[in-house]
Amino acid sequence: MASTAGQVIRCKAAVAWEAGKPLVIEEVEVAPPQAMEVRIKVLFTSLCHTDVYFWEAKGQTPLFPRIFGHEASGIVESVGEGVTELQPGDHVLPVFTGECKECRHCKSEESNMCDLLRINTDRGVMLNDNTSRFSINGKPIYHFVGTSTFSEYTVVHIGCVAKIDPAAPLDKVCVLSCGISTGLGATLNVAKPKKGQSVAIFGLGAVGLAAAEGARMVGASRIIGVDLNPNRFNEAKKFGVTEFVNPKDYDKPVQEVIAEMTDGGVDRSVECTGNVNAMISAFECVHDGWGVAVLVGVPNKDDAFKTHPMNLLNERTLKGTFFGNYKPRTDLPSVVEKYMNKELELEKFITHEVPFSEINKAFDYMLQGAGLRCIIRMDA
Ligand SMILES: NC(=O)c1ccc[n+]([C@@H]2O[C@H](COP(=O)([O-])OP(=O)(O)OC[C@H]3O[C@@H](n4cnc5c(N)ncnc54)[C@H](O)[C@@H]3O)[C@@H](O)[C@H]2O)c1
Ligand SMILES: [Zn+2]
Ligand SMILES: [Zn+2]
Repeated sequence: MASTAGQVIRCKAAVAWEAGKPLVIEEVEVAPPQAMEVRIKVLFTSLCHTDVYFWEAKGQTPLFPRIFGHEASGIVESVGEGVTELQPGDHVLPVFTGECKECRHCKSEESNMCDLLRINTDRGVMLNDNTSRFSINGKPIYHFVGTSTFSEYTVVHIGCVAKIDPAAPLDKVCVLSCGISTGLGATLNVAKPKKGQSVAIFGLGAVGLAAAEGARMVGASRIIGVDLNPNRFNEAKKFGVTEFVNPKDYDKPVQEVIAEMTDGGVDRSVECTGNVNAMISAFECVHDGWGVAVLVGVPNKDDAFKTHPMNLLNERTLKGTFFGNYKPRTDLPSVVEKYMNKELELEKFITHEVPFSEINKAFDYMLQGAGLRCIIRMDA
């Protein structure tokens, strides 16, 4: 096949023209990568709830037309000027938040909030020249979180690309590009429960169940799953969730229910819902003296977190994290290795699969709360 490097590629992409309206498969032009960018042939992508929030744009800044998608796997097609770490043919996972390797955050062991490439949901253009690499008949289509993987080809800054083991099956490790790494890291890197401790998980979607998986891996004694959707409970058993609480079944706040179940509160909690009231409950349900709560869900633009300061004075800790505190380029290859050496199972997170032409079905499944991750096959 003739090389496409340096040329505009015409390919299919699922374009969101308007908030909440089904995506439309269009032929788009994808410009070649510029300095410190790579163009990726996307092979598999999956839907994360963050895509859905910004597509619905109910509590978020609307930016359309846009190509969504940030959980994906693919192969580098060509590289821009100055790119030495990646080459055509490399197997990669794009990530919505980046790692420049040079700023204070990238140099800090504690942070993954890169000054240059941290998640920015309002930006719809590439950093290099503040324009989009996508267009239809010359009219630009906006990017989403620097990844826009609902396209057969996409252009991504190299700081947002993790090069992974070429032996890793791309149709499975694609879910490590966001949701599963996020939930797993939120527990292992941020909440850090000790063996024998109790952990509450709010929201039993893929992110929450990955957080539960982390709790199981460290030997938590009790893993209490909280969700409004009773259908989640059966599935959650496979992820080590030992007890379930549906806030709808009680006439008092769920934090009180959990405090009663656990003699004063859980040791750790991880919130993976995006609902601000669940965030407050997740904080208030941890034990005083040592409890740690970690927020992972993406809130609405105008949400405010309200709690009595005494809850903090009583020695509870509130934290939050993007991407489970993993640095995408440095740490993600080792998470892929956890799957390769069977420490981490990914198959159980993948409950649906659709061809690219039926991408809107993946949105329907998520809106109905059916299943966990739906893999979208780009070649079908
Ligand atoms: N911080 C990050 O880096 C990061 C990365 C990925 C996803 N996210 C966010 O994590 C959250 C989960 O993503 P997902 O893809 O697993 O979504 P999902 O829709 O599959 O799962 C969310 C679950 O939360 C439940 N839920 C909603 N409101 C609730 C409430 N008030 N109380 C209890 N349960 C409630 C839903 O029933 C659902 O089962 C989303 O907010 C997403 O945007 C954050
Ligand atoms: Zn995501
Ligand atoms: Zn940086």
